[in-house]
Amino acid sequence: MPENTLSITDNRTGKVYTVPVENGTIRAMDLRQIKSGPDDFGLMTYDPAYMNTASCRSSITYIDGEKGILRYRGYPIEVLAERCTFLEVAYLLMFGELPTEKELKQWVYDITHHTMLHETTKKFMEGFRYSAHPMSMFVSTIAALSSVYPDAKLVRDPKHRMHQIIRLIGKVPSIAAMSYRHNVGFPYVYPDNDLSYTENFMNMLWKMVEPKYVAHPAIARALDILFILHADHEQNCSTSAMRSVGSSETDPYLAVASAASALAGTLHGGANEEVLKMLDEIGTKDHVPAYIKRVKEGKLKLMGFGHRIYKNYDPRAKIIRWSAEQVFEVTGRNSKLDIALELERIALEDEYFVKRKLYPNVDFYSGIMYQAMGFRPEMFTVLFAIPRTAGWLAQWEELMNDPEQKIARPRQVYTGSGEREFVPIDKRVPVPIPADYPTR
Ligand code: ACO
Repeated sequence: MPENTLSITDNRTGKVYTVPVENGTIRAMDLRQIKSGPDDFGLMTYDPAYMNTASCRSSITYIDGEKGILRYRGYPIEVLAERCTFLEVAYLLMFGELPTEKELKQWVYDITHHTMLHETTKKFMEGFRYSAHPMSMFVSTIAALSSVYPDAKLVRDPKHRMHQIIRLIGKVPSIAAMSYRHNVGFPYVYPDNDLSYTENFMNMLWKMVEPKYVAHPAIARALDILFILHADHEQNCSTSAMRSVGSSETDPYLAVASAASALAGTLHGGANEEVLKMLDEIGTKDHVPAYIKRVKEGKLKLMGFGHRIYKNYDPRAKIIRWSAEQVFEVTGRNSKLDIALELERIALEDEYFVKRKLYPNVDFYSGIMYQAMGFRPEMFTVLFAIPRTAGWLAQWEELMNDPEQKIARPRQVYTGSGEREFVPIDKRVPVPIPADYPTR
């Protein structure tokens, strides 16, 4: 029997099948030959929430969740956070190598010269309700860009793809800042090409009447580090959405809008906003034990804790804790940090969390830091979406170059009724309405 194969005995028929094992996986399609009889469709795997299914090959991000390791293109996240700028890391994600000085200069120039939004896009944003959530505005405006760039439909042309990639990375901070200014009722600020990516974002957020916005270097660097930490995270919910939607060959604006929609959920990128709400609800350190008790009783989730992949401390959370200290030296300590530290201390000692390997994730400390920097909680997920756009696009580019990929189309296990006789409306029997169904 050749090595690197798996033998499967079908006890229904007694037949034995041999399938190849490659990179620790078997191909689900190799199971289709396993049939209980001539009319059998063939064996499938059932894997709700993709707990154990690899949907692609990727050479972008590596995670070892047991050991708490995260690398982009082979470089440890800690090294990139310490030594690089966000745009350098975005280049690495996209092209596979760190840029030379000349390549970086060109890349920064290209991104910087695509930060402006069409005036009609600005008007589109002005149409949102005064209290619109910035994440809703962000998602919708990214989708609306599809109407501004019809050439984006040419997804099989690498040149056109790269053009949209540069546009998107350039424009997401502008859209994010305008969503914020709209929400607080301030006039929009145009980009300033003299500034770095992060400083320019701060300029568009916070410039008031001063002739030139000057960002605090420590805050700008901390934000850049946060952007590096959030840039990619292999096949998470939003990246899977990007790949799944992108696989239909829709344009990248619509695919990024779909990915950002997935990110908005409270179990994913929306968790950072929820952490702040939770810390507000807890109020003081002495209320922590009672809160943990409610979590253990299954009444609540500890937001910012737990991860599908990490069964160890999220390496990004460690860097954020360190970076937060640098920010607090400028801004003063966020009082919520003490509550968070106490939550972490108790949780990490408690059997409930230890047994389930629940550790702080990236969202646990990021919100506290964002708040200290002057961001409102409604902006936290938007802050996540800006750098993750680079990751989504790198994954999309990889998808478009992968000859094995096709339109994503999972199978299902059908559990409904067999063929039924049609019932005319006057013969139908009412079904009980669920108690929580809204009635008029
Ligand atoms: N608080 C309390 N209990 C938790 C938590 C939590 N935050 N997370 C998981 N658990 C428990 C579950 O109740 C379950 O317990 P059980 O075995 O007794 O049923 C066990 O731990 C395993 O949890 P699952 O839900 O199976 O883990 P899954 O991998 O499906 O979920 C997730 C991961 C969604 C991140 C989850 O841990 C969670 O909801 N955390 C809070 C939200 C959050 O912080 N999300 C951000 C994640 S990072 C990111 O997306 C950028």
